[in-house]
Amino acid sequence: MSRIRFSDFERIVFFTGAGMSAESGIPTYRGKGGIWAEYDYEDYACQRAFDRDPERVWDFHDRRRAAVRACEPNDGHRVVTAVQERRPGTLVVTQNIDGMHQRAGAAVTAELHGSLWRVRCDADEIVRDDDTVPMTPRKCSCGGYWRPDIVWFEDSLDHRVVCRAREALEACDLLVSIGTSAVVYPAAELPRIAVQRGAVTVEINLEDTPLSHLYQHRLRGKASDVLAELNR
Ligand code: APR
Repeated sequence: MSRIRFSDFERIVFFTGAGMSAESGIPTYRGKGGIWAEYDYEDYACQRAFDRDPERVWDFHDRRRAAVRACEPNDGHRVVTAVQERRPGTLVVTQNIDGMHQRAGAAVTAELHGSLWRVRCDADEIVRDDDTVPMTPRKCSCGGYWRPDIVWFEDSLDHRVVCRAREALEACDLLVSIGTSAVVYPAAELPRIAVQRGAVTVEINLEDTPLSHLYQHRLRGKASDVLAELNR
């Protein structure tokens, strides 16, 4: 294990993907048991599917809300929160929509792909937090369906969120990428910013990814185990 000590850094960014929540029992998207192995995103996670059959999309998201609600943050989430508490310059940029970092007490600078726990009415331009399981009511007072405030396939990311993430990665002196397959753009591109700025870079994953070559330290193992080692 390379001797990376969080205490040696002032501005740490944790850049997390679904593997961060795997040990909480939340399925990842790809790989064995992944969500996209069971569900076709074209039917459940894109605007066309929602326009075609909002009830079916909400049924899917209610199942995900119930599943995530039944899970707890894991030791890896708790290490991220503990580092943020000890080193206030620590930021979290996540691709995850599960809200687990927040449930573990961490402040999240950017939820790149939105949140399972926020909904919006595009007609009324309203966005609001909502943690009802199942989500009710499904319709806004205007009569239109509330839409999960999630960045679906073919959606653009919120440029304000991307700006916050870019600023974090431009300023960091340590980037710790955790549990992402690095195949979904533009999110996958962001760690390159920290590399170009000369930050120390760490990739925590069970296996190599297409962007592993970018990282100076490639630590292989479960997120909570590796983070516990780094946090000693
Ligand atoms: N510890 C560390 N890494 C893990 C663990 C674990 N316990 N379990 C799985 N992983 C790794 C896998 O090896 C894989 O590289 O986590 C990664 C999960 O990859 P994906 O399922 O593709 O998740 P992610 O990279 O977050 O997906 C990006 O794709 O579907 C969209 O919007 C969705 O935000 C998501 C985006």
